[in-house]
Amino acid sequence: MRLCLVALAVLALQLTHVQGAYGAATSAVRSPDGKLVVSLRLSGEGRPEYSILRGGRTVIDWSRLGFILANAPKLERNFELAHVEQKAIDETWEQPWGERRFVRNRCTEQRLTLREKTGDQRSFTVVFRVFDDGAGFRYEFPAQAALTQVGITEELTEFAVAEPATAWWIPGGEWNRYEYLYQKTPLAEVGQVHTPVTLKTASGLHIAIHEAALVDYAGMWLRRVSGQRLKAVLSPSSSGPPVQRQAPFATPWRTLQIADSAAGLYMSDLVLNLNEPNKLGDVSWVKPFKYVGIWWGMHLGTHTWASGPKHGATTKETMRYIDFAAKHGFRGVLVEGWNKGWDGDWFARGDEFSFTEAYPDFDIAALAAYAKKKGVRLVGHHETAGNIAVYEKQLGPALDLYAKLGIDAVKTGYVADAGGVQAMGEDGRIHFEWHDGQVQARHHLRVVEEAARRRIAVNAHEPIKDTGLRRTYPNWVSREGARGMEYNAWGDPPNPPEHEVNLVFTRMLAGPMDYTPGILSLTGAGGKRIQSTVARQLALYVVLYSPIQMAADLPENYAKYPKPFQFIKDVPADWSETRVLNGEVGDYATIARKDRNSDDWYLGSITDEESRTLHASLSFLDEGRKYYATIYRDGTRTPDTGIGIETRPVSRYDTLELKLAAAGGQAIRISTHPGSRGPRSSPKPAPKKPPPEFDVE
Ligand code: NOJ
Ligand code: CA
Repeated sequence: MRLCLVALAVLALQLTHVQGAYGAATSAVRSPDGKLVVSLRLSGEGRPEYSILRGGRTVIDWSRLGFILANAPKLERNFELAHVEQKAIDETWEQPWGERRFVRNRCTEQRLTLREKTGDQRSFTVVFRVFDDGAGFRYEFPAQAALTQVGITEELTEFAVAEPATAWWIPGGEWNRYEYLYQKTPLAEVGQVHTPVTLKTASGLHIAIHEAALVDYAGMWLRRVSGQRLKAVLSPSSSGPPVQRQAPFATPWRTLQIADSAAGLYMSDLVLNLNEPNKLGDVSWVKPFKYVGIWWGMHLGTHTWASGPKHGATTKETMRYIDFAAKHGFRGVLVEGWNKGWDGDWFARGDEFSFTEAYPDFDIAALAAYAKKKGVRLVGHHETAGNIAVYEKQLGPALDLYAKLGIDAVKTGYVADAGGVQAMGEDGRIHFEWHDGQVQARHHLRVVEEAARRRIAVNAHEPIKDTGLRRTYPNWVSREGARGMEYNAWGDPPNPPEHEVNLVFTRMLAGPMDYTPGILSLTGAGGKRIQSTVARQLALYVVLYSPIQMAADLPENYAKYPKPFQFIKDVPADWSETRVLNGEVGDYATIARKDRNSDDWYLGSITDEESRTLHASLSFLDEGRKYYATIYRDGTRTPDTGIGIETRPVSRYDTLELKLAAAGGQAIRISTHPGSRGPRSSPKPAPKKPPPEFDVE
């Protein structure tokens, strides 16, 4: 059922004159609460510029708008304002799955049509949507005789951040796509960055610049051009200008989330609200779930994707995982390395992959049937090594095979250097493209749409960044797009403790991430100790949202740690409410979420390399109701590997003290019932004595 209270009010044309940083604006539009004002002016020679004020203070100074075109004169000056339209939007829509069930979309929209004063009088429309927690704008190119085929060489959009700011960023346009550690520097020292880029200004304002609805367009990087002025850079194309479109079309939204705190940034739904509603109709077949899989062993180097004596994806091993999943209540079993093409240097070319032929020691049909019998589903895997020419050729039959076998989720992968995606060009030749260029933006949606036709969900690794398209295509459930847990197996350096905290207020602003937490053994390849605690591994299930969550460790490791494993079994992957209880970018974060299918709440808290004590008020709990908190905290005897577990009654009047060890965390299940979740819990009692390497207090 969809709750949709739409209140659209088209206001009369009203041009307000607001005093901006450098004089009179041509037009201005306010957020519903009146605090944010986005202005547009045509300066000097009729060049369009916008600015953003918040509470009367300049957040974004006058910043350019416009384009340099490949096949026509540039579109950046000699404009006049031809038409202005404004309306209020206030609607509440329901997410089929997500961090919260209902999302309010409340903003003021202003559409400004700019027309060249002379010559062909070409025009485009700038659409602003101004929310209480930020603003988005995009350009619409109408159908017009003088501009039909549009080749965009450069988008001139700028973001001139007014107040001195600190920035958390990863480099844009580098070989490892989005898989970098976040840097914290003055904004005035960044070079070229990916979005979301998160800023904190001298007065404590938090800003995240990103984009929404990246459809058939190149991804946007940001390059600092001077001082704190950032400019859009479009991810390149191998065959001409970065963007080639036919009018009419609209660009993605350029977004600025603006809040007083890091928590406020995370709570913003602006990016989702700027995406189109669900285009797929009934999506009740898209199921949030938890999964295990034949995966970590390959990253540890104890197994291989390739065939041979260490082949991970054998029928026997997969049956072991299916049994394990069935016993512990996991819906999915991911199997990587099941298909032909992994032998040799698979990531160099990717042209040997078959997406329909299994290795002889993997009986996919028998395993799918065995899984079904046990109430479990295989999760498909399509590693393309970035060779989308090979993948697109096989896409239909590959997805048909999964559909036939009842496999309703696929993890895709694009392991190739940035700029190394191999696509078939219109000239019948292979072109090398970027992971976030227009070609790849199209490719991902093609896969998502083909998968949706067969009721299959998609989780892309080495993806294009998330821009909220899950609203439009709810089967695009998750993706990677940052350094995940795998770096704790083999990364050099591995993920430092601040990485996961950085993710919360940077990468996670874009959407769900398949981080693959739950390495309770705390051990990477070659026995290397992961910089984490057991309680923190649990907290990650709450802190790093994804509707599909992996329990990434080996079954034999989970067998060693049944007590903390219980939390992984209990924690849901779908929520009706989310609250950020506290957080500072890069330092710590505490998030509470309410289970979509019960009245239980879950809380996760993580810190960086510093130990700290945080406080979490439970005022989100229902009045007059008794709850039981099962607390998984860092051990006091052995804070690095030990864990303390206790259950005690709590109510909404309690404030919990969360003592986090260095690199530690805390996970709490707050339930109306004292025990663990019935059917999802293990029928066997936990062994009395924990193994010696693991200290349960
Ligand atoms: C990189 C992915 O992030 C990882 O999860 C996967 O196991 C490998 N590629 C192989 O596809
Ligand atoms: Ca990866």
